[in-house]
Amino acid sequence: MCMRSAETHTASLCTGIMQAGEFCYDTGSAAKGTSMSAAFWSEQVVIVTGGAGFLGRHVLDELRAQSARRIIVPRRAEYDLREQEAVERLFADHPDATMVIHLAANVGGIGINREHPGLFFYENLMMGALMLEYARRAGVDKFVGIGTVCSYPKFAPVPFKEEDLWDGYPEETNAPYGLAKKMLLVQSQAYRQEYGYNAIHLLPVNLYGPHDKFDLQSSHVIPAVIRKMVDAQESGAPQVTLFGDGSPTREFLFVRDAAKGIVLAAEHYNSAEPVNLGSAFEISIRDLVQIIAEEVGFTGDLHWDTSKPNGQPRRKLDVSRAQREFGFVSQTDFRAGLRETIRWYRAERSPASIS
Ligand SMILES: NC(=O)c1ccc[n+]([C@@H]2O[C@H](COP(=O)([O-])OP(=O)(O)OC[C@H]3O[C@@H](n4cnc5c(N)ncnc54)[C@H](OP(=O)(O)O)[C@@H]3O)[C@@H](O)[C@H]2O)c1
Repeated sequence: MCMRSAETHTASLCTGIMQAGEFCYDTGSAAKGTSMSAAFWSEQVVIVTGGAGFLGRHVLDELRAQSARRIIVPRRAEYDLREQEAVERLFADHPDATMVIHLAANVGGIGINREHPGLFFYENLMMGALMLEYARRAGVDKFVGIGTVCSYPKFAPVPFKEEDLWDGYPEETNAPYGLAKKMLLVQSQAYRQEYGYNAIHLLPVNLYGPHDKFDLQSSHVIPAVIRKMVDAQESGAPQVTLFGDGSPTREFLFVRDAAKGIVLAAEHYNSAEPVNLGSAFEISIRDLVQIIAEEVGFTGDLHWDTSKPNGQPRRKLDVSRAQREFGFVSQTDFRAGLRETIRWYRAERSPASIS
């Protein structure tokens, strides 16, 4: 249950909800600021699956900044979204929901994707299929599906354009995850065609920023490298080992920018075609590692373990559709974003939060 307060101008965390497996923010009807979006968001009751995760926290911040009327975050402990019964119950518990932003997923870096291709395929497919189907049945106005750059073909022409999404099989290490998420796009387009349902699909590139996962087993490249470098610097270790040969390129989007893009699209984009969310800044893993070493202050040796896979050779998105359709342009300078992420990691890590 979510307690509401019409007086509050600042969204506040509803009490006692975390223990019940759900939490929500309620801004009541008091719209904040003079944003053009105020009228739209003051009407929105938004279910944000995965809202307690890395990206989810930032999406919640953005929704609060827009004074969304109510935000519901179904936690896995109470609503296991792989289960039909739980998804049905979620919509029955919140019959006034007007929008779903579906972020919940089982995600991780190359290592965990290779270890659990079956799990990643099944869980992501089930969560997406059930959430969209029951949102439609419940009459929720809009469904915002969050896909991934991992859905692109391994050798898509660079920069990746949305129209090239189906021109080949994804890179093997993350194909089951990428394809499971891609089925949500198929489902969205099919539902728009058959039922006139307003489901959209966004394709964020690799994200980074505060609240990322820094455990070495499941983390993505940026948090993994930051953690290795900080640990090595503090312990005085002479060398850090990195996976692959450093040649692949990647594009990274600061997580707050991604959240802004998602909320912009949630308000303004209502079409069948998928949309990339990126920064249009491509960098090799080798150069990325160099920048992190400089920012961390690690001066030891770098050892590239070439027995580990490189992953996709190049990744860079064409970001023109997002700019054209809903005015999204990423704002954060890459080095500044990395610096903030490193600062956050140093400040936040503790034996309890980092395993
Ligand atoms: N991180 C990236 O670089 C990146 C890049 C492109 C796209 N994306 C997409 O962005 C979305 C968010 O990613 P993220 O990095 O923020 O992931 P994350 O931090 O791992 O968060 C995932 C969230 O999903 C929820 N979840 C997982 N399994 C669930 C289940 N069975 N039932 C209910 N909830 C479940 C978790 O909820 P609890 O907290 O309750 O356990 C968690 O909060 C994903 O859809 C991902 O594919 C991420």
